[in-house]
Amino acid sequence: MRTLGQMSVEQKKVMGPALNSLKNELAALVETRKTVLEGAALNAALASETLDMSLPVRADTGTLHPVMQVMEEMAVIFADQGFAVAEGPDIEDDFHNFTALNFPPGHPARDMHDTFFLKPDENGDKMVLRTHTSPVQIRTMMSQKPPIRIIIPGRTYRCDSDQTHTPMFHQVEGLVIDKATHMGHLKGCLMDFMSAFFETDVDVRFRPHHFPFTEPSAEMDVRYERVGDEIRIGQGDKWMEILGCGMVHPNVLKNCGLDPDEYQGFAFGMGVDRLAMLKYGMPDLRDMFAGDGRWLSHYGFSPLLQANLATGLS
Ligand code: DAH
Repeated sequence: MRTLGQMSVEQKKVMGPALNSLKNELAALVETRKTVLEGAALNAALASETLDMSLPVRADTGTLHPVMQVMEEMAVIFADQGFAVAEGPDIEDDFHNFTALNFPPGHPARDMHDTFFLKPDENGDKMVLRTHTSPVQIRTMMSQKPPIRIIIPGRTYRCDSDQTHTPMFHQVEGLVIDKATHMGHLKGCLMDFMSAFFETDVDVRFRPHHFPFTEPSAEMDVRYERVGDEIRIGQGDKWMEILGCGMVHPNVLKNCGLDPDEYQGFAFGMGVDRLAMLKYGMPDLRDMFAGDGRWLSHYGFSPLLQANLATGLS
C-alpha cells in the first residue's frame, strides 16, 4: 500500500483495487480465525473449570415424621376420589370455631372441647386455638360456590394430655356439598378410604351420635383384634371408634349463606395421629411430639419415596 504513491496513474488503477480486496480478504480471514480461537478457549475453560453444585444424596439421614407421611397418604387417597386440599388458621375466632358450626353461645356442647383461649381483646372477645379443623368448612363454604369437595388437614388444640391425647394433635376434615349428596355417598367414601388407607379389607360400622354441626350424625368404628401388643385392623371381634361424620346441619349451611333446600352435603373429621399409631404401631401418642431423634429414625419414612396409589402408599 505504501508503494502506491510512487506508481504511475495506470498502475494505480490496477493495483489500487487489487490491494484493497487483498486487504479485505486478509482481514476477514483474521476475524474468522479469531472467532475459532476464542471459541476453543471458552470450551477449554468450560471443560476445565467445572464446579459441581449438587450435594450427594444422604439417604441415611432425615426422615418424614409419621404424621407427615399419613397426611400425604390421606391426601393421595382423597385426591383419587376428587378432593382438593383446603387450609385455615390455627388461631380462630369464636364464630368460625363454634357459632357458625351451630354451637350457640353458652351451649353446653362447647364444653366438649377443652378449649385454649387467648387473652380477651378490648371488647372482651377471646380468640381460640382451633379445637378442630371444622372451622375451615365454614371458611370454605363462605368463600366458594358448591360443588365443594375438600379435605382439610391441620393442627388442632385441646387442653388434654395422656397416653392417647396431646395438647396439639392433627385432624383431617372432609366436606362435600352438592345438590344431591346423601348418606350413601358419605358411607361409600369413608369405607373406600379405610380400605385404601389400611391397605386391606376393612370392616366398618356406623353408630348414631351427636355433633352440633351435623344431622344425622354418626361415629364410624373399624373391626380390629389385639394380638399380643399388636393391633390388627380388619379382623377380630372388637370395634374401635375412628371418626365422626354426618350430613351437614341445615343451620350450618344457612350460616354460610347456602340454601339447605338446594344444597346438602356430608362432613367427617378424624384424628391423624391416632390413625398413624394404628397403622404403624406406635404405642404412645406423646412420643410423636417429643422430638427424639432415635424415635424419628425408627418410625420415620424416607423422604425420597412419595406415597402414591400406583406403587403403594408406604
Ligand atoms: N369436629 C369434630 C371433633 O373434632 C369431628 C367431626 C365430627 C368433624 C363430625 C366433622 C363431622 O366434620 O361431621 O370432634
